[in-house]
Amino acid sequence: MNILILGSGGREHALAWAVMQNPKCDRLVVAPGNAGIAQIAECAALNAEDGGAVATFAEENAIDFVIVGPEAPLAAGVADRLREAGLLVFGPSEAAARLEASKSFTKEICDAAKAPTAGYGHFTDAEAAKAHVRANGAPIVVKADGLAAGKGVIVAMDEQTALDAIDDMFGGAFGGAGAEVVIEEFMEGEEASLFVLCDGEEILSIGTAQDHKRVGEGDTGPNTGGMGAYSPAPVLSAEIEAKALEEIVKPTMRVMAERGMPYQGVLYAGLMIKDGEPRLVEYNVRFGDPECQVLMMRLGAQALDLMQAAAEGRLSEARVNWADDHAITVVMAANGYPGDYQKGTEIKGLAALPEDSMNMVFHAGTKAEGDKILATGGRVLNVTARGDSLQEARDRAYAMVDQIDWPEGFVRRDIGWRAL
Ligand code: AMP
Ligand code: GLY
Repeated sequence: MNILILGSGGREHALAWAVMQNPKCDRLVVAPGNAGIAQIAECAALNAEDGGAVATFAEENAIDFVIVGPEAPLAAGVADRLREAGLLVFGPSEAAARLEASKSFTKEICDAAKAPTAGYGHFTDAEAAKAHVRANGAPIVVKADGLAAGKGVIVAMDEQTALDAIDDMFGGAFGGAGAEVVIEEFMEGEEASLFVLCDGEEILSIGTAQDHKRVGEGDTGPNTGGMGAYSPAPVLSAEIEAKALEEIVKPTMRVMAERGMPYQGVLYAGLMIKDGEPRLVEYNVRFGDPECQVLMMRLGAQALDLMQAAAEGRLSEARVNWADDHAITVVMAANGYPGDYQKGTEIKGLAALPEDSMNMVFHAGTKAEGDKILATGGRVLNVTARGDSLQEARDRAYAMVDQIDWPEGFVRRDIGWRAL
Protein backbone atom coordinates (compact mmCIF):
# COMPACT_ATOMS: atom_id res chain seq x y z
CA MET A 1 0.00 0.00 0.00
CA ASN A 2 1.31 3.47 -0.93
CA ILE A 3 0.39 6.00 1.75
CA LEU A 4 0.45 9.79 1.84
CA ILE A 5 0.28 11.69 5.14
CA LEU A 6 -0.47 15.43 5.03
CA GLY A 7 1.17 17.67 7.63
CA SER A 8 4.53 18.66 9.07
CA GLY A 9 4.41 18.44 12.86
CA GLY A 10 5.16 16.04 15.69
CA ARG A 11 1.69 14.55 15.17
CA GLU A 12 2.54 13.62 11.59
CA HIS A 13 5.97 12.26 12.60
CA ALA A 14 4.22 9.97 15.09
CA LEU A 15 1.62 8.91 12.51
CA ALA A 16 4.42 8.18 10.01
CA TRP A 17 6.37 6.21 12.63
CA ALA A 18 3.35 3.99 13.41
CA VAL A 19 2.38 3.52 9.75
CA MET A 20 5.96 2.56 8.78
CA GLN A 21 5.90 -0.33 11.25
CA ASN A 22 2.97 -1.95 9.50
CA PRO A 23 4.13 -4.47 6.87
CA LYS A 24 1.17 -3.38 4.73
CA CYS A 25 2.94 -0.08 4.05
CA ASP A 26 5.06 -0.35 0.87
CA ARG A 27 5.81 3.32 0.42
CA LEU A 28 5.20 6.32 2.66
CA VAL A 29 5.28 9.96 1.57
CA VAL A 30 4.68 12.83 4.01
CA ALA A 31 3.87 16.28 2.65
CA PRO A 32 5.45 18.59 3.50
CA GLY A 33 7.05 16.71 6.47
CA ASN A 34 10.06 17.88 8.51
CA ALA A 35 13.67 16.85 9.26
CA GLY A 36 12.68 14.04 11.64
CA ILE A 37 10.10 12.63 9.25
CA ALA A 38 12.71 12.72 6.46
CA GLN A 39 14.77 10.22 8.47
CA ILE A 40 12.04 7.58 8.22
CA ALA A 41 9.97 8.44 5.11
CA GLU A 42 10.02 10.39 1.86
CA CYS A 43 8.98 14.02 2.15
CA ALA A 44 7.34 15.94 -0.70
CA ALA A 45 7.11 19.73 -0.99
CA LEU A 46 3.34 20.07 -1.42
CA ASN A 47 0.84 22.58 -0.11
CA ALA A 48 -1.37 20.32 2.03
CA GLU A 49 -4.25 22.83 1.83
CA ASP A 50 -4.40 22.73 -1.97
CA GLY A 51 -6.75 19.81 -2.66
CA GLY A 52 -6.15 19.89 -6.41
CA ALA A 53 -2.36 19.73 -6.02
CA VAL A 54 -2.62 16.91 -3.49
CA ALA A 55 -4.98 14.92 -5.76
CA THR A 56 -2.61 15.31 -8.73
CA PHE A 57 0.37 14.25 -6.62
CA ALA A 58 -1.55 11.22 -5.31
CA GLU A 59 -2.47 10.14 -8.82
CA GLU A 60 1.06 10.57 -10.18
CA ASN A 61 2.51 8.60 -7.27
CA ALA A 62 -0.06 5.76 -7.24
CA ILE A 63 -1.12 6.63 -3.67
CA ASP A 64 -3.71 4.22 -2.23
CA PHE A 65 -4.51 5.95 1.05
CA VAL A 66 -4.26 9.56 2.28
CA ILE A 67 -4.18 10.40 6.00
CA VAL A 68 -4.88 14.06 6.77
CA GLY A 69 -3.09 15.28 9.94
CA PRO A 70 -4.08 18.90 10.64
CA GLU A 71 -7.47 20.66 10.68
CA ALA A 72 -6.70 23.36 8.09
CA PRO A 73 -6.78 21.09 5.01
CA LEU A 74 -9.93 19.40 6.35
CA ALA A 75 -11.69 22.74 6.90
CA ALA A 76 -10.57 23.72 3.37
CA GLY A 77 -12.27 20.66 1.85
CA VAL A 78 -9.14 18.73 0.88
CA ALA A 79 -10.69 15.38 1.93
CA ASP A 80 -13.69 16.11 -0.35
CA ARG A 81 -11.41 16.90 -3.34
CA LEU A 82 -9.48 13.67 -2.79
CA ARG A 83 -12.61 11.54 -2.48
CA GLU A 84 -13.99 13.12 -5.66
CA ALA A 85 -10.76 11.98 -7.32
CA GLY A 86 -11.52 8.42 -6.17
CA LEU A 87 -8.96 8.23 -3.37
CA LEU A 88 -9.34 6.51 -0.02
CA VAL A 89 -9.00 9.21 2.66
CA PHE A 90 -8.84 9.31 6.45
CA GLY A 91 -10.43 12.59 7.58
CA PRO A 92 -13.82 14.29 7.53
CA SER A 93 -15.47 16.31 4.78
CA GLU A 94 -15.46 20.10 4.89
CA ALA A 95 -19.06 20.02 6.12
CA ALA A 96 -18.27 17.60 8.96
CA ALA A 97 -15.04 19.44 9.84
CA ARG A 98 -17.24 22.31 11.03
CA LEU A 99 -17.30 20.41 14.33
CA GLU A 100 -13.93 22.11 14.85
CA ALA A 101 -14.16 25.05 12.44
CA SER A 102 -17.32 26.58 13.95
CA LYS A 103 -18.07 26.68 17.67
CA SER A 104 -21.70 27.76 17.12
CA PHE A 105 -22.23 24.87 14.68
CA THR A 106 -20.95 22.44 17.33
CA LYS A 107 -23.17 23.93 20.03
CA GLU A 108 -26.20 23.59 17.78
CA ILE A 109 -25.34 19.95 16.98
CA CYS A 110 -24.93 19.29 20.72
CA ASP A 111 -28.38 20.81 21.33
CA ALA A 112 -29.89 18.50 18.73
CA ALA A 113 -27.98 15.53 20.16
CA LYS A 114 -28.85 16.50 23.77
CA ALA A 115 -25.15 16.07 24.54
CA PRO A 116 -24.10 17.52 27.91
CA THR A 117 -22.01 20.68 27.38
CA ALA A 118 -21.80 24.26 28.68
CA GLY A 119 -24.86 26.51 28.25
CA TYR A 120 -24.21 29.22 25.64
CA GLY A 121 -25.30 32.18 23.59
CA HIS A 122 -24.35 32.87 19.95
CA PHE A 123 -23.85 36.51 18.92
CA THR A 124 -23.19 38.46 15.75
CA ASP A 125 -23.01 41.88 17.42
CA ALA A 126 -21.00 43.19 20.34
CA GLU A 127 -23.80 44.93 22.28
CA ALA A 128 -25.96 41.81 22.53
CA ALA A 129 -22.90 39.77 23.54
CA LYS A 130 -22.01 42.27 26.27
CA ALA A 131 -25.58 42.32 27.58
CA HIS A 132 -25.35 38.51 27.88
CA VAL A 133 -22.12 38.81 29.87
CA ARG A 134 -23.62 41.47 32.17
CA ALA A 135 -26.69 39.34 32.74
CA ASN A 136 -24.71 36.19 33.54
CA GLY A 137 -21.62 37.59 35.30
CA ALA A 138 -18.16 36.01 35.57
CA PRO A 139 -16.51 33.56 35.36
CA ILE A 140 -17.60 33.18 31.75
CA VAL A 141 -15.95 31.99 28.53
CA VAL A 142 -15.79 34.05 25.32
CA LYS A 143 -14.95 32.21 22.09
CA ALA A 144 -14.32 33.36 18.53
CA ASP A 145 -16.58 31.18 16.39
CA GLY A 146 -14.01 30.18 13.76
CA LEU A 147 -10.53 28.62 13.65
CA ALA A 148 -8.06 30.86 15.50
CA ALA A 149 -5.02 28.59 15.90
CA GLY A 150 -6.01 27.71 19.46
CA LYS A 151 -6.02 31.38 20.55
CA GLY A 152 -9.68 32.30 20.17
CA VAL A 153 -10.85 31.26 23.65
CA ILE A 154 -10.82 33.65 26.61
CA VAL A 155 -11.69 32.14 29.98
CA ALA A 156 -12.68 35.34 31.79
CA MET A 157 -12.54 35.22 35.57
CA ASP A 158 -14.02 38.75 35.79
CA GLU A 159 -16.65 40.62 33.78
CA GLN A 160 -14.32 43.31 32.38
CA THR A 161 -12.01 40.69 30.81
CA ALA A 162 -15.03 39.19 29.05
CA LEU A 163 -16.25 42.58 27.82
CA ASP A 164 -12.76 43.44 26.53
CA ALA A 165 -12.53 40.06 24.77
CA ILE A 166 -15.82 40.80 23.00
CA ASP A 167 -14.46 44.15 21.78
CA ASP A 168 -11.25 42.46 20.60
CA MET A 169 -13.10 39.75 18.71
CA PHE A 170 -15.61 42.01 16.99
CA GLY A 171 -12.73 44.47 16.43
CA GLY A 172 -11.01 41.90 14.23
CA ALA A 173 -8.28 40.58 16.57
CA PHE A 174 -8.95 37.08 15.22
CA GLY A 175 -9.85 38.12 11.69
CA GLY A 176 -12.92 36.44 10.21
CA ALA A 177 -12.88 33.85 13.01
CA GLY A 178 -14.19 36.51 15.42
CA ALA A 179 -17.03 37.88 13.27
CA GLU A 180 -19.31 35.68 15.37
CA VAL A 181 -18.85 34.94 19.05
CA VAL A 182 -20.03 32.15 21.32
CA ILE A 183 -20.29 32.88 25.05
CA GLU A 184 -20.32 29.88 27.32
CA GLU A 185 -21.04 29.06 30.90
CA PHE A 186 -17.76 28.38 32.76
CA MET A 187 -17.41 24.69 33.59
CA GLU A 188 -15.39 23.49 36.55
CA GLY A 189 -13.67 20.13 36.73
CA GLU A 190 -10.71 18.22 35.32
CA GLU A 191 -10.08 18.17 31.56
CA ALA A 192 -9.19 15.08 29.55
CA SER A 193 -9.43 14.04 25.93
CA LEU A 194 -11.06 11.04 24.33
CA PHE A 195 -10.07 9.91 20.82
CA VAL A 196 -12.67 8.07 18.79
CA LEU A 197 -12.50 6.73 15.25
CA CYS A 198 -15.69 7.16 13.24
CA ASP A 199 -16.66 5.70 9.87
CA GLY A 200 -19.90 7.59 9.37
CA GLU A 201 -21.92 5.02 11.36
CA GLU A 202 -19.82 3.07 13.82
CA ILE A 203 -17.40 4.44 16.40
CA LEU A 204 -14.33 2.91 18.05
CA SER A 205 -12.58 4.47 21.02
CA ILE A 206 -8.80 4.36 20.58
CA GLY A 207 -7.59 5.95 23.77
CA THR A 208 -7.55 8.77 26.27
CA ALA A 209 -4.97 11.45 27.03
CA GLN A 210 -4.35 14.59 29.03
CA ASP A 211 -2.15 17.47 27.93
CA HIS A 212 -0.58 20.46 29.63
CA LYS A 213 -1.60 23.65 27.84
CA ARG A 214 0.20 26.23 30.02
CA VAL A 215 3.84 27.01 29.40
CA GLY A 216 4.90 26.99 33.06
CA GLU A 217 5.35 24.33 35.70
CA GLY A 218 2.31 23.72 37.90
CA ASP A 219 0.15 24.64 34.86
CA THR A 220 0.84 28.37 35.09
CA GLY A 221 1.61 31.12 32.58
CA PRO A 222 0.34 31.67 29.03
CA ASN A 223 -1.43 29.04 26.95
CA THR A 224 0.51 27.08 24.33
CA GLY A 225 -0.31 24.42 21.77
CA GLY A 226 0.59 21.87 24.49
CA MET A 227 3.80 21.32 26.47
CA GLY A 228 3.38 17.59 27.00
CA ALA A 229 0.81 14.81 27.23
CA TYR A 230 0.27 11.34 28.59
CA SER A 231 -2.00 8.40 27.91
CA PRO A 232 -4.10 6.93 29.42
CA ALA A 233 -5.82 9.74 31.36
CA PRO A 234 -6.63 8.26 34.79
CA VAL A 235 -9.57 10.66 35.27
CA LEU A 236 -11.29 9.08 32.25
CA SER A 237 -12.20 5.81 33.95
CA ALA A 238 -13.85 3.09 31.87
CA GLU A 239 -17.20 4.13 33.33
CA ILE A 240 -16.82 7.82 32.47
CA GLU A 241 -15.48 6.94 29.03
CA ALA A 242 -18.55 4.77 28.38
CA LYS A 243 -20.79 7.64 29.51
CA ALA A 244 -19.00 10.09 27.21
CA LEU A 245 -19.39 7.71 24.27
CA GLU A 246 -23.10 7.05 24.94
CA GLU A 247 -24.20 10.56 25.91
CA ILE A 248 -21.90 12.75 23.79
CA VAL A 249 -20.06 11.06 20.90
CA LYS A 250 -22.71 8.61 19.63
CA PRO A 251 -25.60 11.11 19.62
CA THR A 252 -23.36 13.66 17.86
CA MET A 253 -22.47 11.13 15.18
CA ARG A 254 -26.15 10.24 14.78
CA VAL A 255 -27.16 13.89 14.27
CA MET A 256 -24.31 14.44 11.79
CA ALA A 257 -25.45 11.44 9.73
CA GLU A 258 -29.11 12.51 9.89
CA ARG A 259 -28.13 15.94 8.58
CA GLY A 260 -26.34 14.44 5.60
CA MET A 261 -22.76 15.01 6.79
CA PRO A 262 -21.64 11.67 8.24
CA TYR A 263 -18.37 12.03 10.12
CA GLN A 264 -15.39 9.93 9.06
CA GLY A 265 -11.96 10.21 10.67
CA VAL A 266 -10.82 10.72 14.24
CA LEU A 267 -12.96 12.76 16.57
CA TYR A 268 -11.11 14.37 19.45
CA ALA A 269 -13.57 15.05 22.26
CA GLY A 270 -12.23 17.51 24.84
CA LEU A 271 -14.14 16.75 28.05
CA MET A 272 -14.63 18.41 31.42
CA ILE A 273 -15.21 15.88 34.18
CA LYS A 274 -16.81 16.73 37.47
CA ASP A 275 -18.43 14.39 40.02
CA GLY A 276 -18.15 11.48 37.59
CA GLU A 277 -20.04 13.32 34.81
CA PRO A 278 -18.36 14.24 31.50
CA ARG A 279 -19.41 17.35 29.55
CA LEU A 280 -18.10 18.41 26.16
CA VAL A 281 -15.67 21.37 26.04
CA GLU A 282 -14.92 21.12 22.33
CA TYR A 283 -14.49 18.80 19.40
CA ASN A 284 -11.45 18.71 17.14
CA VAL A 285 -11.58 16.86 13.83
CA ARG A 286 -8.02 15.51 13.98
CA PHE A 287 -5.61 13.93 16.42
CA GLY A 288 -4.31 16.22 19.14
CA ASP A 289 -0.75 17.44 18.94
CA PRO A 290 1.06 16.26 21.11
CA GLU A 291 -1.63 13.76 22.22
CA CYS A 292 -1.21 11.82 18.97
CA GLN A 293 2.41 11.10 19.86
CA VAL A 294 1.45 9.17 23.01
CA LEU A 295 -1.46 7.39 21.32
CA MET A 296 0.75 6.23 18.41
CA MET A 297 3.44 5.07 20.83
CA ARG A 298 0.84 2.84 22.48
CA LEU A 299 -0.96 1.64 19.35
CA GLY A 300 2.02 1.10 17.03
CA ALA A 301 1.43 -0.57 13.65
CA GLN A 302 -2.26 -1.34 14.24
CA ALA A 303 -2.97 2.40 13.96
CA LEU A 304 -2.80 2.01 10.17
CA ASP A 305 -5.29 -0.89 10.13
CA LEU A 306 -7.67 1.10 12.34
CA MET A 307 -7.49 4.28 10.25
CA GLN A 308 -7.99 2.22 7.09
CA ALA A 309 -11.01 0.47 8.61
CA ALA A 310 -12.50 3.89 9.46
CA ALA A 311 -11.89 5.18 5.92
CA GLU A 312 -13.41 2.04 4.37
CA GLY A 313 -16.48 2.00 6.61
CA ARG A 314 -15.45 -1.26 8.31
CA LEU A 315 -15.07 -0.10 11.89
CA SER A 316 -17.59 -2.65 13.16
CA GLU A 317 -15.00 -5.35 12.33
CA ALA A 318 -12.07 -3.49 13.91
CA ARG A 319 -10.66 -4.16 17.39
CA VAL A 320 -7.98 -2.36 19.35
CA ASN A 321 -5.38 -4.54 21.06
CA TRP A 322 -4.40 -2.59 24.12
CA ALA A 323 -1.22 -3.18 26.03
CA ASP A 324 -1.74 -2.30 29.67
CA ASP A 325 0.90 0.42 29.38
CA HIS A 326 1.49 4.16 29.64
CA ALA A 327 3.11 6.72 27.36
CA ILE A 328 4.26 10.27 27.90
CA THR A 329 5.63 12.99 25.66
CA VAL A 330 7.63 16.00 26.81
CA VAL A 331 7.72 18.98 24.46
CA MET A 332 11.05 20.76 23.98
CA ALA A 333 10.33 24.33 22.92
CA ALA A 334 12.51 27.27 21.92
CA ASN A 335 13.33 29.69 24.76
CA GLY A 336 10.73 32.47 24.70
CA TYR A 337 7.88 30.33 23.32
CA PRO A 338 4.89 31.00 23.19
CA GLY A 339 6.21 34.57 22.76
CA ASP A 340 9.08 35.49 20.43
CA TYR A 341 11.88 32.99 20.01
CA GLN A 342 15.04 32.51 18.00
CA LYS A 343 15.03 30.30 14.91
CA GLY A 344 17.87 28.30 13.37
CA THR A 345 19.65 27.22 16.57
CA GLU A 346 21.42 23.85 16.43
CA ILE A 347 20.21 20.80 18.37
CA LYS A 348 22.91 18.23 19.24
CA GLY A 349 22.85 14.79 20.78
CA LEU A 350 19.87 13.39 18.89
CA ALA A 351 21.77 10.72 16.95
CA ALA A 352 22.85 8.93 20.13
CA LEU A 353 19.29 8.47 21.44
CA PRO A 354 17.43 5.15 21.28
CA GLU A 355 14.71 4.84 18.63
CA ASP A 356 12.54 1.83 19.37
CA SER A 357 9.06 0.85 20.51
CA MET A 358 9.76 2.33 23.97
CA ASN A 359 11.62 5.55 23.08
CA MET A 360 11.15 8.02 20.24
CA VAL A 361 11.96 11.67 19.67
CA PHE A 362 9.34 13.04 17.28
CA HIS A 363 10.22 16.24 15.46
CA ALA A 364 7.73 19.11 15.43
CA GLY A 365 9.68 22.11 14.12
CA THR A 366 13.07 21.18 12.70
CA LYS A 367 15.03 21.30 9.48
CA ALA A 368 18.21 19.53 8.41
CA GLU A 369 21.23 21.47 7.14
CA GLY A 370 23.96 19.03 6.13
CA ASP A 371 24.17 16.69 9.15
CA LYS A 372 22.97 19.41 11.51
CA ILE A 373 19.44 19.56 12.90
CA LEU A 374 18.17 23.12 13.37
CA ALA A 375 15.15 24.35 15.34
CA THR A 376 12.64 26.17 13.14
CA GLY A 377 9.52 26.41 15.30
CA GLY A 378 8.26 27.23 18.79
CA ARG A 379 7.51 23.64 19.75
CA VAL A 380 10.47 21.76 18.32
CA LEU A 381 10.79 18.18 19.66
CA ASN A 382 8.44 15.71 21.36
CA VAL A 383 10.48 13.39 23.53
CA THR A 384 8.24 10.35 23.91
CA ALA A 385 8.51 7.13 25.92
CA ARG A 386 6.44 4.14 26.99
CA GLY A 387 6.51 2.13 30.19
CA ASP A 388 4.59 -0.29 32.38
CA SER A 389 3.74 2.66 34.61
CA LEU A 390 3.51 6.38 33.95
CA GLN A 391 6.47 6.91 36.28
CA GLU A 392 8.61 4.50 34.25
CA ALA A 393 7.61 6.17 30.98
CA ARG A 394 8.31 9.58 32.46
CA ASP A 395 11.77 8.61 33.76
CA ARG A 396 12.66 7.30 30.29
CA ALA A 397 11.46 10.47 28.58
CA TYR A 398 13.36 12.84 30.88
CA ALA A 399 16.49 10.67 30.59
CA MET A 400 16.36 11.36 26.85
CA VAL A 401 15.66 15.06 27.39
CA ASP A 402 18.81 15.23 29.52
CA GLN A 403 20.93 13.84 26.69
CA ILE A 404 19.75 16.45 24.20
CA ASP A 405 22.20 19.32 23.91
CA TRP A 406 20.17 22.41 23.01
CA PRO A 407 20.85 25.44 25.25
CA GLU A 408 18.30 27.53 23.30
CA GLY A 409 15.44 25.19 24.27
CA PHE A 410 13.47 24.34 27.43
CA VAL A 411 11.03 21.77 28.81
CA ARG A 412 8.53 21.64 31.62
CA ARG A 413 9.89 19.23 34.24
CA ASP A 414 6.48 18.27 35.62
CA ILE A 415 4.63 16.64 32.72
CA GLY A 416 2.20 14.07 34.15
CA TRP A 417 2.13 15.54 37.67
CA ARG A 418 -1.64 15.38 37.93
CA ALA A 419 -1.65 11.63 37.29
CA LEU A 420 1.33 10.72 39.51
P1 AMP B 1 -11.21 25.19 23.34
O1 AMP B 1 -10.33 25.79 22.28
O2 AMP B 1 -12.67 25.34 23.11
O3 AMP B 1 -10.78 23.82 23.74
O4 AMP B 1 -10.86 26.00 24.66
C1 AMP B 1 -9.54 26.07 25.14
C2 AMP B 1 -9.52 25.83 26.62
O5 AMP B 1 -10.35 26.76 27.29
C3 AMP B 1 -10.07 24.47 27.01
O6 AMP B 1 -9.12 23.47 26.91
C4 AMP B 1 -10.50 24.74 28.44
O7 AMP B 1 -9.41 24.67 29.31
C5 AMP B 1 -10.98 26.15 28.40
N1 AMP B 1 -12.44 26.20 28.22
C6 AMP B 1 -13.12 26.24 27.05
N2 AMP B 1 -14.45 26.28 27.25
C7 AMP B 1 -14.62 26.26 28.59
C8 AMP B 1 -15.77 26.29 29.45
N3 AMP B 1 -17.01 26.39 28.96
N4 AMP B 1 -15.56 26.23 30.77
C9 AMP B 1 -14.32 26.18 31.29
N5 AMP B 1 -13.21 26.16 30.55
C10 AMP B 1 -13.34 26.20 29.21
N1 GLY C 1 -2.98 19.65 22.21
C1 GLY C 1 -4.20 20.28 21.90
C2 GLY C 1 -4.63 20.19 20.50
O1 GLY C 1 -4.07 19.50 19.68
O2 GLY C 1 -5.62 20.85 20.15
